[in-house]
This record gives sequence, C-alpha cells and structure tokens, in this order.
Amino acid sequence: MTDAANASFKPRIFSGIQPSGGLTLGNYLGALKRFVEKQDEGIETIYCLVDLHAITVWQDPERLRAQTREAAAAFIAAGIDPTRSILFNQSQVSAHAELAWILNCVARIGWMYRMTQFKDKTAGKNAENSSLGLLAYPSLMAADILLYHATMVPVGEDQKQHLELTRDIAAKFNHDYKVDFFPITEPLIEGAATRVMSLRDGTKKMSKSDPSDASRINLTDDADAIAQKIRKARTDAEPLPETLAELKDRPEARNLVNIYAALAGEAPEAVLERFAGHGFGAFKPALAELAVATLAPISGEMKRLMADPAEIDRTLGEGAERADAIAQPILAQTLDIVGMIRSRAD
Ligand code: AMP
Ligand code: TRP
Repeated sequence: MTDAANASFKPRIFSGIQPSGGLTLGNYLGALKRFVEKQDEGIETIYCLVDLHAITVWQDPERLRAQTREAAAAFIAAGIDPTRSILFNQSQVSAHAELAWILNCVARIGWMYRMTQFKDKTAGKNAENSSLGLLAYPSLMAADILLYHATMVPVGEDQKQHLELTRDIAAKFNHDYKVDFFPITEPLIEGAATRVMSLRDGTKKMSKSDPSDASRINLTDDADAIAQKIRKARTDAEPLPETLAELKDRPEARNLVNIYAALAGEAPEAVLERFAGHGFGAFKPALAELAVATLAPISGEMKRLMADPAEIDRTLGEGAERADAIAQPILAQTLDIVGMIRSRAD
C-alpha cells in the first residue's frame, strides 16, 4: 500500500509491554515516558499489557497476575491517564488471539525463524523445545497493532525488526486479498534512550530478566536503591569528553550520558557540554540526583496504587471494554474478507 493510501487511516498509537517481570528504567525511558508524551500530544493512544505474549515462556500464574497489576500501576504512576488513553491487558480482548490466528496463516514460518529475538531467546537451548507461541510471537504482535488499525507504534530499538515484520504481514494480507485494509504501521523509535544498557555491562541491554538486580533500575526501587546502583554502575577512569564521537568505545560512559539526557529531556550533546572534563566522581552524583527526583515519585505512587488491586482490575476492565469496541468491527471485517460465514444472531 502506498503512503497516500495510508493517509486514509486516522492517526492512532498502539504499544505494548510484557508483564513478565518488574518494569525497568529501560522500559520507562524507551517506552513509558514516550507513551505519556504521545498521550499528552492529544493523539488517540492505546496501551496494552501483553499477558498472552508473556506466557510464550513459562510464568507462574500468581506472579503473572501480580506483575500485570504492577505494570498497570507503573503506567498510571508514570502519567498515563486511563480516561484519556485506553489501558488494558491483552487477554481480556479475545480478538487479539483471533486475529493472530488469521495472521498466522498469512505470515511464513521462515519469517519467524529470522527474528533475532527468537534466536536470542533460544540461544544455547534446543529451539525445537521452545513453545510454538515463542516462534509465533511476532504474529500476535502484528495482530495487536493491526486490530486497531494503529498507524504509529512507539517502541525501543529492540522491537524494530518485529515492526518491520508487522508491515510485511499487513502488506501480504492486503496483497493476497486484494484489499487496502490494514495500514502499513510506522515505528516510532526516538530519543536518547531507545536502547538503555545494563549498568554492569555496557554492551548488554538493560532487561527485567537479567539475573543481576544491580544491572538495572527497577521502577519499584526506592531512592536509596536507585542512588546506590548508579554509584556502583560500571564506568572507566577517563573524564567525560566534549563530543559524542569520543564515547564510541566507552559503552558504559555513553549509556550513563544517554540516561542523563533522556531523564533531563536534553540532547546527549548538551549533557557533554556541561560535564566535559569531569570524571564520574562528579557525574554519578548528578545523575543519581536526577534519577531519584524523576523515579522516586513514580515508585511511591505505584505503591499507593498497588494497595488497591480491585481498583486496578476495574481500570483494566474498563479499558478492555473500550478496546473491544474498536477491535470487534475490525475483526469482523477481517473474517469477512477471508471468507468466513458470519450469520450468528448476536
Ligand atoms: P518488554 O519489556 O520487552 O515488553 O519491552 C517493552 C517496551 O520497552 C518495548 O518498547 C521495548 O523496546 C522497551 N524496552 C525494553 N527494554 C529497553 C531498554 N533496555 N532500553 C530501551 N527500551 C527498552
Ligand atoms: N514485543 C514487545 C516487547 O517485548 C511487546 C509488544 C507486544 C508490543 N505487542 C506489541 C509492542 C505491539 C508494540 C506493539 O517489547
């Protein structure tokens, strides 16, 4: 489909986060903070806790439920207003799984084997023994997005390949059925922190599943924990340089500068202008102060919200009803396009 055809879709943002563990500073800077900015720009925004994606690897049921509530609390504490954005958990809108099946029949197995996330998650293991869901994961993700005819998807850098696949699946569906039905979605990968790295190893992504808790800042960490993790973050002995180019071979230093820039809403160049010539003895306390000032109020608010799980569940239920109202007609049209009889009275 051409961009001109795409222009017939109204601007709508969709994004998702897996409730497969506590959220990290990487999720906050790469996703949540930007989700809030998009909401505040007045674009229609739909945000989803993708619990069906989470179970592509084993999740303890009670922990999954608790983590889903905690992630919902993080969204709200970070500034998502569930009356302005739609906030819900994926499994409450069954159309996601239904559209995913149709897209499973459009996408090719080879496309799935090429996904680096699949390769990473099965590295060193017997891939044949991973769940079928883990392989089909990107096709469910395409369903999440296309079910709402979303035109833009804000994500971190690691999701780029999945979004390219979503475009391929939409284009193949449109081509195979000779329709202009699904939009060719635009990835929004913007800002200084689209890839926040581990505090222990500047070449590894900060991740909720890293065995080392010191490698990440969790959104539930209190002020002391945040400050201590930044103080202990791995760095080098050199002072900060004047240009970003000089940070090329200093991944840990580069990461901390990027984190500072993203938290302050500045360009990394502006951060270097201020701190050039200073060592980490000066930079780390400044970064810790900024991180605590931004994140401690979020973790405090999350705690307050999590004290009332029934209220969180009510919010997610309302979000699911609003999401369903958009999704159902699009699913019905999809089923019609592929040739299913739709004759039930209800
Ligand atoms: P996940 O936690 O894998 O469900 O990711 C949810 C969102 O957070 C996606 O948009 C990711 O790209 C983003 N994200 C996860 N980890 C990072 C990171 N270390 N840096 C930047 N963005 C991240
Ligand atoms: N795969 C994404 C991740 O792990 C989560 C996700 C699922 C998603 N469905 C989505 C992100 C739809 C954006 C849009 O980060």
